[in-house]
Amino acid sequence: MPKLTVAIAADHAGFPLKGLVCEEVAALGFDVLDLGTHGLESVDYPDFGRKCAEAVASGRAARGIVICGTGLGISMAANRNPGVRAAPCHDTVSARLSRQHNDANILALGARLIGPEVARDCVRTFLTTEFEGGRHAARVKKLGETAGLEVKV
Ligand code: RB5
Repeated sequence: MPKLTVAIAADHAGFPLKGLVCEEVAALGFDVLDLGTHGLESVDYPDFGRKCAEAVASGRAARGIVICGTGLGISMAANRNPGVRAAPCHDTVSARLSRQHNDANILALGARLIGPEVARDCVRTFLTTEFEGGRHAARVKKLGETAGLEVKV
């Protein structure tokens, strides 16, 4: 069976955490699609949130992870794409519930807010937790409808 791909994108503030996140994703058995940025030079988080969102919404990647200083700006950028449900998570409970209840397809991390172990745990939880469906399915469908999409659940 082909490996699932996870798209990963960060701005300059997220860059220091991106290497560790890529390593963790690969260690979990996924292919990594590294969409940059590739250094500490200042860039704009909307560009990287959009790149990751496009990879996930188009099906090129099964899931995405975006990283900026807080996880906020880049999640806002990713959520502009109607096919995306990006969740800023800074603890494993949020990471787990974003999957179980919201079927989040992009995890957003704040590199200036969390340490490497919390980041690793959030990534692991996000990529290994299934959507529960059931009563949550109709709500996720409504999210898609609000964004003008017809979502199959
Ligand atoms: C960049 O300085 C910082 O504003 C950005 O990484 C992010 O935290 C924005 O939400």
